[in-house]
Amino acid sequence: MYKFKNVVIFGASQGIGKAIAFEFSSIGSNIILLSRNYEQLKEVSNELNKNSSICFIKKCDVTLIEEVKSGIKFACGKFENIDLVIINSGVGGPNWMNTFSSKQFKDTFAVNTFGIAHVLECVLPVFRKQGYGTIAGITSLADIRGYGGSSSYSASKAASSILLESARVELKKENIKIITIRPGFVKTAMTDKNEFYMPFILKPQKAAKIIRKGIEAGRSIIQFPIPIVLASRIIKLLPNRIFDWGMNKARPKK
Ligand SMILES: NC(=O)c1ccc[n+]([C@@H]2O[C@H](COP(=O)([O-])OP(=O)(O)OC[C@H]3O[C@@H](n4cnc5c(N)ncnc54)[C@H](OP(=O)(O)O)[C@@H]3O)[C@@H](O)[C@H]2O)c1
Repeated sequence: MYKFKNVVIFGASQGIGKAIAFEFSSIGSNIILLSRNYEQLKEVSNELNKNSSICFIKKCDVTLIEEVKSGIKFACGKFENIDLVIINSGVGGPNWMNTFSSKQFKDTFAVNTFGIAHVLECVLPVFRKQGYGTIAGITSLADIRGYGGSSSYSASKAASSILLESARVELKKENIKIITIRPGFVKTAMTDKNEFYMPFILKPQKAAKIIRKGIEAGRSIIQFPIPIVLASRIIKLLPNRIFDWGMNKARPKK
């Protein structure tokens, strides 16, 4: 039987999460879609049902642990086992220091970082009980440095990548696999807000295929596209003087 028969996706109403739902349903997985926008979830599930996929939806805000808990309980009620949980929920967009607000910083962490922490807390007891499971969290290649205009986003993704890495190291011996997914640019509502050129930008469907294949291949880190992965490695090593100069050069003029 296919290893990832029953899949739960947090943040599945649009963009990469929606494309991942289609990707797994196209190979016969049963899917549970969770996020805040119930109407959009209904549209996604109607489309999936047309392809004769088994799909259930539930409203869930990942910033609220009680809603995450009831989302997982809902999934346990529908499926005998949960094979794969994908934590895709995320918020982002430009935020510059001239309008910096700690509230916006907290709000970004609430979804991008605490969302992952909430899901981990609620899913781990279920995986321990069934004796196995895979959790894939979507962070970003923007987790490597403090990019200009991206303080909240880059910081929240760096914290998430580190959280997932610690979880991976510890949980391996319990037969629980943790995967970190680090995409480059993908064309979605999130990146439509960006005011700068986004090299090697991918369609969500292409990103979802890479993600599904990486999960099936058992990778612990899935990062793409390769030119941006390599560029990120170089950017990480740049001395501050050059990094700061590049950041200021790239800043859109208003
Ligand atoms: N697009 C890119 O270039 C790119 C690159 C690297 C990483 N990523 C990451 O990939 C993930 C998906 O991004 P995307 O580009 O597909 O963005 P998107 O189109 O804006 O979709 C974001 C998804 O997150 C969900 N979400 C947001 N807040 C939530 C909350 N409080 N609770 C539950 N779900 C929530 C949204 O659903 P509801 O509004 O229905 O709740 C939506 O389904 C994010 O984690 C993002 O940071 C994206």
